[in-house]
Amino acid sequence: MIAHHENQVEARRQAIQLEIDSRRSAAERNRLGQFATPNALAVEIAQYVATLLDRKTDGIRFADPAIGTGSFFSAALTVFGRKRIASAVGIELDPAFCAAARELWGDAGLEIVGGDFTRIVASPSHPRAPNLILANPPYVRHHHLTREDKERLQALAHHLTGVQVNGLAGLYVYFLLLTTAWMEEGGWAAWLVPSEFMDVNYGAALKRFLTDCVTLVRVHRFDAEDVQFGDALVSSVVLVLHKAAPPRGHTVEFTFGGTMARPHAREGVALDRLRDARKWTVYPEHAGNDRRTSANGEGLTLADLFRIQRGIATGSNKFFVLERADATRRGLPKKFLRPILPSPRHLKATIINANEDGYPLIAPQLCVLDCDLPEHVVEDKYPALWAYLQTAEALGIKDGYLVGRRTPWYKQEQRSPAPFLCTYMGRGADEKQPFRFILNRSAAIATNLYLMLHPQPRLAAILRQQPDGNTTIHELLQRVTGHELRGEGRVYGGGLHKIEPSELGRISAAAFVERWPCLESTVQRQVELFA
Ligand SMILES: C[S@@+](CC[C@H](N)C(=O)[O-])C[C@H]1O[C@@H](n2cnc3c(N)ncnc32)[C@H](O)[C@@H]1O
Repeated sequence: MIAHHENQVEARRQAIQLEIDSRRSAAERNRLGQFATPNALAVEIAQYVATLLDRKTDGIRFADPAIGTGSFFSAALTVFGRKRIASAVGIELDPAFCAAARELWGDAGLEIVGGDFTRIVASPSHPRAPNLILANPPYVRHHHLTREDKERLQALAHHLTGVQVNGLAGLYVYFLLLTTAWMEEGGWAAWLVPSEFMDVNYGAALKRFLTDCVTLVRVHRFDAEDVQFGDALVSSVVLVLHKAAPPRGHTVEFTFGGTMARPHAREGVALDRLRDARKWTVYPEHAGNDRRTSANGEGLTLADLFRIQRGIATGSNKFFVLERADATRRGLPKKFLRPILPSPRHLKATIINANEDGYPLIAPQLCVLDCDLPEHVVEDKYPALWAYLQTAEALGIKDGYLVGRRTPWYKQEQRSPAPFLCTYMGRGADEKQPFRFILNRSAAIATNLYLMLHPQPRLAAILRQQPDGNTTIHELLQRVTGHELRGEGRVYGGGLHKIEPSELGRISAAAFVERWPCLESTVQRQVELFA
């Protein structure tokens, strides 16, 4: 009878959820991270947690720090039954959701506290510590947090958990840390969170917390190919943890795909291994895992396939980089001019084709002045070049840091043209790549606003056999996700991202190995050879 009543309330909840969602714009929902958990998933998560609790436990004190309309409370009622739930509290910032949750679940014993959880948890009058948390916290990206909020959250997380959260972390990271601090020792929690933190640098502190400060029991990642819960879960993971020091020799169960009860792949990963792993999405190491890279859990990275270097720093692009037409007009000898790409801002194309003479088919064509002959030889033999070099004095070019240290001062760093380039800085959130990958079919080199990617011998061999290979490689590079790029790169004020060669080199090359499996075995053989 009670169950029947609860089903009806759950049906009403779903209708109200839809109604409130439809009143909000996508931008508003993004700002508050309002994406509700499908009830079937909430039930699946609660059912798994129930298998961990002592069946006789009846003093459940439930909490959801971002309750919405109460999908998880509804699931808790379904799975544990009302009798086992001694108390329940939900915190919610949005008054419309507060009102809805109160109206729907007040009779079933859910207390709603309206307000910002991150402030409520810090206040002395916060609700009593729960021993069961089921939550899908707001996925608010760091750039939607004000600087003051970020600093407040960082200080609070540090104060309550000792963790120094990276400024790139989204709001969910703070929710997880602060809620765990609030939870009773010995309590259990399940979190539906973005999987991004598992692989990126700014997730390191949270990963450390999960391996060292609590007992991480289960990590289940959904498969993008499974459509049961729609697109919402494509990059989500369920973390289940126990608030207790990890027992000696503890292993964490990593699963992928299917349901929590019947995953498609599973593997127990020892904490020691996990602590050493830079990326967690490679677990379970199973053919079914979309992010598995190799048998050793690390796998090939772009650095195994490409020699990556910054383009040249001329010391003064405005002096050394000229329009080709201008250089010709000045009579500068061709042999001291090399084609060079314009700055990324002025390069609209992502595929650069070339003239017969190797210059890119773009306008205007640029060249860089590069000569290693001593001054007296230039003066003697190349009067036009000598005349141009004389103009440097008045412009103060020779006093520059780089130029002043070179001999002769007009000699550039040597680079051969690279078939692939990546812009060195850029912007972009979510799936958007902050950096652009360019396929360069010209003989142009690039300035240090680009990274140059030269295929390593093995990849070069494939390219010799496959005339179309360059296009494929370019496509694979364009498939590196925005998350991976931002995760390896670094961010500057105002959301400007930069990436250094070694950082780009750390990105997984799994997609390349999938396309050309022979890559892996060859590199592996090289490793063994040198070991
Ligand atoms: C991802 S939704 C999840 C809602 C619900 N728990 C569920 O699973 O369907 C996150 C919820 O957190 C709320 N929220 C956002 N910021 C909050 C904050 N600082 N404190 C409390 N709730 C917040 C949003 O309004 C939204 O209802």
